Amino acid sequence: MSEKKKPVVLSGIRPTGDLHLGNYFGAIRYFVELQAQDNDCLFFVADLHTLTTAMEDHIDVDAASIEVVRWYLACGVDPDKAIIYRQSDILEIPMFALLLGMVTPEGELHRSTTYKEKVKDLEGKRKLVSFGLLAYPVLMAADILFCNADIVPVGEDQKQHLEIARQIARNYNRYFSDTHTIVEPKSHMLEPIRVPGLKGEGKMSKSVGGPDNVIYLNDSEKEIRRKIMSAQTDLGPEQGQPMADIMKNVYTLLELCAPKEVYDDYLRKYENAEQKFYGSLKKDLAASIIELVKPIQARYNSPECSPERVEKLLAENAEKVRVIAKNNLKKILVDMRFKNLAESYD
Ligand code: ADP
Ligand code: TRP
Repeated sequence: MSEKKKPVVLSGIRPTGDLHLGNYFGAIRYFVELQAQDNDCLFFVADLHTLTTAMEDHIDVDAASIEVVRWYLACGVDPDKAIIYRQSDILEIPMFALLLGMVTPEGELHRSTTYKEKVKDLEGKRKLVSFGLLAYPVLMAADILFCNADIVPVGEDQKQHLEIARQIARNYNRYFSDTHTIVEPKSHMLEPIRVPGLKGEGKMSKSVGGPDNVIYLNDSEKEIRRKIMSAQTDLGPEQGQPMADIMKNVYTLLELCAPKEVYDDYLRKYENAEQKFYGSLKKDLAASIIELVKPIQARYNSPECSPERVEKLLAENAEKVRVIAKNNLKKILVDMRFKNLAESYD
Protein backbone atom coordinates (compact mmCIF):
# COMPACT_ATOMS: atom_id res chain seq x y z
CA MET A 1 0.00 0.00 0.00
CA SER A 2 1.40 3.41 -0.90
CA GLU A 3 2.02 5.79 1.97
CA LYS A 4 -0.04 8.99 1.87
CA LYS A 5 2.09 11.99 0.86
CA LYS A 6 2.42 14.61 3.56
CA PRO A 7 1.55 18.19 2.65
CA VAL A 8 4.63 20.10 1.49
CA VAL A 9 5.08 23.47 3.22
CA LEU A 10 7.46 25.96 1.64
CA SER A 11 8.39 29.58 2.20
CA GLY A 12 11.28 32.00 1.90
CA ILE A 13 12.44 35.47 2.85
CA ARG A 14 14.70 37.79 0.88
CA PRO A 15 18.02 38.71 2.55
CA THR A 16 17.48 42.44 2.11
CA GLY A 17 17.96 43.59 5.71
CA ASP A 18 17.40 42.74 9.34
CA LEU A 19 14.27 40.73 10.11
CA HIS A 20 11.44 42.38 12.01
CA LEU A 21 8.13 41.71 13.76
CA GLY A 22 6.31 41.77 10.39
CA ASN A 23 8.44 38.89 9.13
CA TYR A 24 7.98 37.08 12.43
CA PHE A 25 4.20 37.38 12.72
CA GLY A 26 3.49 37.25 8.97
CA ALA A 27 5.73 34.32 8.17
CA ILE A 28 8.29 32.78 10.55
CA ARG A 29 5.97 31.97 13.44
CA TYR A 30 3.90 29.87 10.99
CA PHE A 31 7.07 28.11 9.83
CA VAL A 32 7.48 27.01 13.44
CA GLU A 33 3.82 26.07 13.81
CA LEU A 34 3.66 24.12 10.55
CA GLN A 35 6.89 22.20 11.16
CA ALA A 36 5.35 20.86 14.37
CA GLN A 37 2.50 19.32 12.38
CA ASP A 38 2.59 16.39 9.99
CA ASN A 39 4.12 18.28 7.05
CA ASP A 40 7.27 18.14 4.91
CA CYS A 41 8.73 21.61 5.43
CA LEU A 42 11.17 23.52 3.26
CA PHE A 43 12.29 27.01 4.25
CA PHE A 44 14.81 28.94 2.21
CA VAL A 45 16.58 32.26 1.72
CA ALA A 46 15.42 33.95 -1.49
CA ASP A 47 18.82 35.42 -2.32
CA LEU A 48 18.33 35.64 -6.10
CA HIS A 49 15.21 37.75 -5.54
CA THR A 50 17.36 40.35 -3.79
CA LEU A 51 18.73 41.52 -7.14
CA THR A 52 15.27 42.55 -8.33
CA THR A 53 15.36 45.76 -6.29
CA ALA A 54 18.46 45.96 -4.14
CA MET A 55 21.07 45.65 -6.90
CA GLU A 56 22.48 49.11 -6.41
CA ASP A 57 22.57 48.82 -2.63
CA HIS A 58 25.51 46.41 -3.01
CA ILE A 59 24.24 44.15 -0.25
CA ASP A 60 26.66 41.41 0.73
CA VAL A 61 24.11 38.78 -0.26
CA ASP A 62 26.05 35.81 1.12
CA ALA A 63 26.48 37.37 4.56
CA ALA A 64 22.86 38.60 4.59
CA SER A 65 21.61 35.12 3.68
CA ILE A 66 23.48 33.58 6.59
CA GLU A 67 21.82 36.16 8.85
CA VAL A 68 18.32 35.23 7.65
CA VAL A 69 18.97 31.58 8.46
CA ARG A 70 20.40 32.49 11.88
CA TRP A 71 17.10 34.25 12.61
CA TYR A 72 15.09 31.28 11.33
CA LEU A 73 16.92 29.09 13.83
CA ALA A 74 16.66 31.68 16.60
CA CYS A 75 12.88 31.91 16.11
CA GLY A 76 12.57 28.15 16.45
CA VAL A 77 12.78 26.71 12.94
CA ASP A 78 14.25 23.29 13.65
CA PRO A 79 16.70 21.82 11.12
CA ASP A 80 15.69 18.35 12.28
CA LYS A 81 12.10 19.03 11.26
CA ALA A 82 12.53 21.31 8.23
CA ILE A 83 14.99 21.55 5.37
CA ILE A 84 16.56 25.00 5.37
CA TYR A 85 18.40 25.97 2.18
CA ARG A 86 19.55 28.80 -0.07
CA GLN A 87 17.72 29.46 -3.35
CA SER A 88 20.88 30.10 -5.41
CA ASP A 89 22.35 26.71 -4.40
CA ILE A 90 19.68 25.06 -6.53
CA LEU A 91 20.45 25.93 -10.15
CA GLU A 92 17.42 23.94 -11.30
CA ILE A 93 15.19 26.70 -9.84
CA PRO A 94 16.14 29.36 -12.44
CA MET A 95 15.67 26.66 -15.09
CA PHE A 96 12.18 26.04 -13.72
CA ALA A 97 11.57 29.79 -13.84
CA LEU A 98 12.60 29.93 -17.50
CA LEU A 99 10.28 27.06 -18.41
CA LEU A 100 7.37 28.34 -16.30
CA GLY A 101 7.80 31.75 -17.92
CA MET A 102 6.45 30.12 -21.06
CA VAL A 103 3.07 29.59 -19.40
CA THR A 104 2.99 32.87 -17.48
CA PRO A 105 0.35 35.38 -18.58
CA GLU A 106 2.47 38.46 -19.22
CA GLY A 107 -0.37 40.90 -18.47
CA GLU A 108 -0.62 39.59 -14.88
CA LEU A 109 3.00 40.54 -14.26
CA HIS A 110 2.36 44.10 -15.38
CA ARG A 111 -0.83 44.27 -13.31
CA SER A 112 0.87 43.12 -10.07
CA THR A 113 0.49 45.82 -7.42
CA THR A 114 3.90 45.07 -5.93
CA TYR A 115 5.44 45.56 -9.36
CA LYS A 116 3.68 48.88 -9.88
CA GLU A 117 4.69 50.13 -6.42
CA LYS A 118 8.30 49.08 -6.89
CA VAL A 119 8.45 50.70 -10.33
CA LYS A 120 7.19 53.96 -8.84
CA ASP A 121 9.77 53.79 -6.08
CA LEU A 122 12.67 52.89 -8.39
CA GLU A 123 11.74 55.48 -11.02
CA GLY A 124 11.50 58.10 -8.28
CA LYS A 125 15.06 57.26 -7.30
CA ARG A 126 16.13 57.12 -10.98
CA LYS A 127 17.08 53.48 -10.60
CA LEU A 128 16.85 50.69 -13.15
CA VAL A 129 13.52 48.90 -13.52
CA SER A 130 14.62 45.49 -14.74
CA PHE A 131 13.05 42.52 -16.47
CA GLY A 132 14.10 40.63 -13.32
CA LEU A 133 11.69 42.78 -11.29
CA LEU A 134 8.85 42.16 -13.73
CA ALA A 135 9.61 38.43 -13.64
CA TYR A 136 9.82 38.35 -9.81
CA PRO A 137 6.57 36.33 -9.51
CA VAL A 138 7.82 33.80 -12.07
CA LEU A 139 10.95 33.07 -10.03
CA MET A 140 8.74 32.91 -6.93
CA ALA A 141 6.45 30.46 -8.73
CA ALA A 142 9.50 28.36 -9.59
CA ASP A 143 10.50 28.39 -5.89
CA ILE A 144 7.09 27.05 -4.98
CA LEU A 145 6.27 24.76 -7.87
CA PHE A 146 9.61 22.95 -8.26
CA CYS A 147 8.76 20.88 -5.19
CA ASN A 148 4.98 20.87 -5.62
CA ALA A 149 4.41 22.83 -2.42
CA ASP A 150 0.86 22.62 -1.08
CA ILE A 151 1.04 25.31 1.59
CA VAL A 152 2.94 28.60 1.47
CA PRO A 153 3.02 30.58 4.72
CA VAL A 154 3.46 34.25 3.78
CA GLY A 155 2.14 37.63 4.88
CA GLU A 156 -0.72 39.48 3.24
CA ASP A 157 1.54 41.39 0.83
CA GLN A 158 2.43 38.12 -0.92
CA LYS A 159 -1.15 37.07 -1.70
CA GLN A 160 -1.04 38.35 -5.26
CA HIS A 161 2.27 36.63 -5.96
CA LEU A 162 0.81 33.39 -4.72
CA GLU A 163 -2.21 33.84 -6.97
CA ILE A 164 0.13 34.25 -9.97
CA ALA A 165 1.92 31.03 -8.96
CA ARG A 166 -1.47 29.29 -8.92
CA GLN A 167 -2.27 30.59 -12.39
CA ILE A 168 1.10 29.42 -13.68
CA ALA A 169 0.45 25.95 -12.23
CA ARG A 170 -3.01 25.88 -13.86
CA ASN A 171 -1.59 26.94 -17.22
CA TYR A 172 1.16 24.35 -17.03
CA ASN A 173 -1.39 21.68 -16.28
CA ARG A 174 -3.57 22.86 -19.16
CA TYR A 175 -0.79 22.74 -21.76
CA PHE A 176 1.71 20.16 -20.58
CA SER A 177 0.55 17.73 -17.91
CA ASP A 178 0.96 14.54 -19.95
CA THR A 179 2.72 12.67 -17.18
CA HIS A 180 3.18 15.21 -14.42
CA THR A 181 0.73 17.67 -12.87
CA ILE A 182 1.83 20.64 -10.81
CA VAL A 183 0.13 21.31 -7.49
CA GLU A 184 -1.74 24.63 -7.13
CA PRO A 185 -0.32 26.05 -3.92
CA LYS A 186 -2.44 27.65 -1.20
CA SER A 187 -1.71 30.10 1.55
CA HIS A 188 -1.64 28.76 5.12
CA MET A 189 -4.69 30.83 6.05
CA LEU A 190 -7.67 32.37 4.34
CA GLU A 191 -6.62 35.88 5.29
CA PRO A 192 -2.85 36.14 5.83
CA ILE A 193 -1.91 38.82 8.32
CA ARG A 194 -0.40 42.25 7.86
CA VAL A 195 1.64 43.81 10.65
CA PRO A 196 1.33 47.61 10.44
CA GLY A 197 4.27 50.01 10.61
CA LEU A 198 4.69 52.30 13.61
CA LYS A 199 4.49 55.49 11.59
CA GLY A 200 1.07 54.79 10.18
CA GLU A 201 2.48 54.37 6.67
CA GLY A 202 1.62 50.94 5.33
CA LYS A 203 3.07 47.70 6.56
CA MET A 204 6.05 47.18 8.79
CA SER A 205 8.83 46.59 6.28
CA LYS A 206 12.60 46.35 5.85
CA SER A 207 12.37 48.61 2.85
CA VAL A 208 9.59 51.17 3.46
CA GLY A 209 9.17 53.93 6.02
CA GLY A 210 12.65 53.95 7.57
CA PRO A 211 14.00 52.29 10.75
CA ASP A 212 11.49 53.96 13.11
CA ASN A 213 8.60 52.33 11.25
CA VAL A 214 9.91 48.89 12.22
CA ILE A 215 10.74 46.83 15.30
CA TYR A 216 13.68 44.62 14.34
CA LEU A 217 14.06 41.27 16.07
CA ASN A 218 17.51 42.50 17.05
CA ASP A 219 16.44 45.86 18.57
CA SER A 220 17.65 46.56 22.11
CA GLU A 221 15.15 47.07 24.94
CA LYS A 222 15.91 50.77 24.82
CA GLU A 223 15.26 50.98 21.08
CA ILE A 224 12.00 49.06 21.40
CA ARG A 225 10.75 51.38 24.17
CA ARG A 226 11.79 54.46 22.22
CA LYS A 227 10.13 53.33 18.98
CA ILE A 228 6.90 52.25 20.67
CA MET A 229 6.66 55.41 22.79
CA SER A 230 6.99 57.48 19.62
CA ALA A 231 4.53 55.38 17.56
CA GLN A 232 1.74 57.54 16.16
CA THR A 233 -1.61 57.69 17.97
CA ASP A 234 -4.74 59.85 17.78
CA LEU A 235 -5.65 62.42 20.46
CA GLY A 236 -7.83 59.98 22.37
CA PRO A 237 -11.04 58.00 21.80
CA GLU A 238 -14.34 59.79 21.30
CA GLN A 239 -17.57 58.29 22.54
CA GLY A 240 -19.47 56.52 19.77
CA GLN A 241 -16.75 57.08 17.14
CA PRO A 242 -15.07 54.14 15.37
CA MET A 243 -11.38 53.56 16.03
CA ALA A 244 -9.07 55.69 13.89
CA ASP A 245 -6.81 53.72 11.51
CA ILE A 246 -3.72 54.94 13.28
CA MET A 247 -5.00 53.41 16.53
CA LYS A 248 -5.98 50.19 14.79
CA ASN A 249 -2.28 49.83 13.99
CA VAL A 250 -1.30 50.10 17.65
CA TYR A 251 -4.07 47.73 18.69
CA THR A 252 -3.08 45.18 16.04
CA LEU A 253 0.43 45.11 17.48
CA LEU A 254 -0.98 44.85 21.00
CA GLU A 255 -3.20 41.95 20.00
CA LEU A 256 -0.25 40.13 18.42
CA CYS A 257 2.24 40.72 21.20
CA ALA A 258 0.44 41.17 24.54
CA PRO A 259 -1.52 38.64 26.63
CA LYS A 260 -5.20 38.51 25.69
CA GLU A 261 -6.37 40.04 29.02
CA VAL A 262 -4.13 43.07 28.48
CA TYR A 263 -5.43 43.56 24.94
CA ASP A 264 -9.07 43.13 26.03
CA ASP A 265 -8.60 45.57 28.88
CA TYR A 266 -7.23 48.31 26.61
CA LEU A 267 -9.90 47.63 24.03
CA ARG A 268 -12.55 48.16 26.71
CA LYS A 269 -10.88 51.40 27.74
CA TYR A 270 -11.02 52.61 24.13
CA GLU A 271 -14.64 51.60 23.69
CA ASN A 272 -15.56 53.39 26.92
CA ALA A 273 -13.74 56.45 25.58
CA GLU A 274 -11.51 56.62 28.65
CA GLN A 275 -8.77 59.22 28.38
CA LYS A 276 -5.04 59.36 28.95
CA PHE A 277 -4.23 55.66 28.89
CA TYR A 278 -2.11 55.57 25.71
CA GLY A 279 1.12 56.06 27.71
CA SER A 280 0.42 52.99 29.81
CA LEU A 281 -0.76 51.04 26.75
CA LYS A 282 2.50 51.79 24.98
CA LYS A 283 4.55 50.79 28.04
CA ASP A 284 2.71 47.47 28.21
CA LEU A 285 3.12 46.98 24.46
CA ALA A 286 6.87 47.66 24.65
CA ALA A 287 7.21 45.26 27.61
CA SER A 288 5.38 42.50 25.71
CA ILE A 289 7.57 42.94 22.64
CA ILE A 290 10.71 42.85 24.79
CA GLU A 291 9.51 39.63 26.39
CA LEU A 292 8.88 38.15 22.96
CA VAL A 293 12.25 39.03 21.40
CA LYS A 294 14.48 38.38 24.41
CA PRO A 295 14.67 34.57 24.13
CA ILE A 296 14.94 34.87 20.33
CA GLN A 297 17.92 37.23 20.70
CA ALA A 298 19.53 34.92 23.28
CA ARG A 299 19.30 31.97 20.87
CA TYR A 300 20.53 34.10 17.97
CA ASN A 301 23.68 34.86 19.97
CA SER A 302 24.23 31.24 21.02
CA PRO A 303 26.47 28.69 19.25
CA GLU A 304 23.26 26.97 18.06
CA CYS A 305 22.85 29.87 15.59
CA SER A 306 26.49 30.51 14.75
CA PRO A 307 27.35 31.45 11.15
CA GLU A 308 29.59 28.34 10.98
CA ARG A 309 26.70 26.05 11.88
CA VAL A 310 24.49 27.77 9.32
CA GLU A 311 27.11 27.42 6.55
CA LYS A 312 27.41 23.71 7.26
CA LEU A 313 23.66 23.25 7.30
CA LEU A 314 23.21 25.06 3.99
CA ALA A 315 25.93 22.99 2.32
CA GLU A 316 24.34 19.72 3.50
CA ASN A 317 20.83 20.73 2.55
CA ALA A 318 21.75 22.00 -0.91
CA GLU A 319 22.44 18.38 -1.84
CA LYS A 320 19.10 17.16 -0.51
CA VAL A 321 17.08 19.84 -2.25
CA ARG A 322 18.92 19.38 -5.55
CA VAL A 323 17.74 15.79 -5.61
CA ILE A 324 14.08 16.90 -5.29
CA ALA A 325 14.58 19.65 -7.88
CA LYS A 326 16.29 17.41 -10.44
CA ASN A 327 13.66 14.76 -10.08
CA ASN A 328 10.81 17.20 -10.76
CA LEU A 329 12.67 19.12 -13.47
CA LYS A 330 13.13 15.87 -15.32
CA LYS A 331 9.37 15.29 -15.26
CA ILE A 332 8.48 18.69 -16.62
CA LEU A 333 11.18 18.44 -19.29
CA VAL A 334 9.55 15.24 -20.50
CA ASP A 335 6.13 16.90 -20.64
CA MET A 336 7.55 19.93 -22.41
CA ARG A 337 9.07 17.56 -25.03
CA PHE A 338 12.74 17.98 -24.09
CA LYS A 339 13.37 14.27 -23.91
CA ASN A 340 17.13 14.51 -24.57
CA LEU A 341 17.69 16.97 -21.79
CA ALA A 342 15.40 15.01 -19.48
CA GLU A 343 17.50 11.89 -20.02
CA SER A 344 20.59 13.73 -18.80
CA TYR A 345 18.90 13.77 -15.38
CA ASP A 346 18.74 9.95 -15.20
P1 ADP B 1 10.06 43.26 3.73
O1 ADP B 1 8.80 43.85 3.22
O2 ADP B 1 10.37 43.70 5.11
O3 ADP B 1 11.22 43.40 2.77
P2 ADP B 1 9.90 40.56 2.85
O4 ADP B 1 9.26 41.03 1.60
O5 ADP B 1 11.27 40.00 2.77
O6 ADP B 1 9.83 41.72 3.92
O7 ADP B 1 8.93 39.49 3.54
C1 ADP B 1 9.28 38.23 4.04
C2 ADP B 1 8.05 37.56 4.61
O8 ADP B 1 7.54 38.32 5.70
C3 ADP B 1 6.88 37.46 3.61
O9 ADP B 1 6.14 36.28 3.86
C4 ADP B 1 6.05 38.66 3.94
O10 ADP B 1 4.70 38.49 3.58
C5 ADP B 1 6.22 38.72 5.44
N1 ADP B 1 6.04 40.10 5.90
C6 ADP B 1 6.87 41.15 5.71
N2 ADP B 1 6.40 42.27 6.28
C7 ADP B 1 5.20 41.91 6.84
C8 ADP B 1 4.22 42.60 7.57
N3 ADP B 1 4.37 43.87 7.88
N4 ADP B 1 3.13 41.92 7.98
C9 ADP B 1 2.96 40.60 7.70
N5 ADP B 1 3.87 39.88 7.01
C10 ADP B 1 4.97 40.51 6.59
N1 TRP C 1 8.42 37.18 -2.34
C1 TRP C 1 8.69 36.78 -0.98
C2 TRP C 1 8.84 38.05 -0.13
O1 TRP C 1 9.19 39.09 -0.58
C3 TRP C 1 9.93 35.94 -0.87
C4 TRP C 1 9.78 34.68 -1.64
C5 TRP C 1 10.46 34.35 -2.78
C6 TRP C 1 8.91 33.61 -1.34
N2 TRP C 1 10.07 33.14 -3.20
C7 TRP C 1 9.12 32.64 -2.36
C8 TRP C 1 8.00 33.36 -0.34
C9 TRP C 1 8.42 31.44 -2.38
C10 TRP C 1 7.28 32.16 -0.37
C11 TRP C 1 7.50 31.22 -1.38
O2 TRP C 1 8.61 37.98 1.01
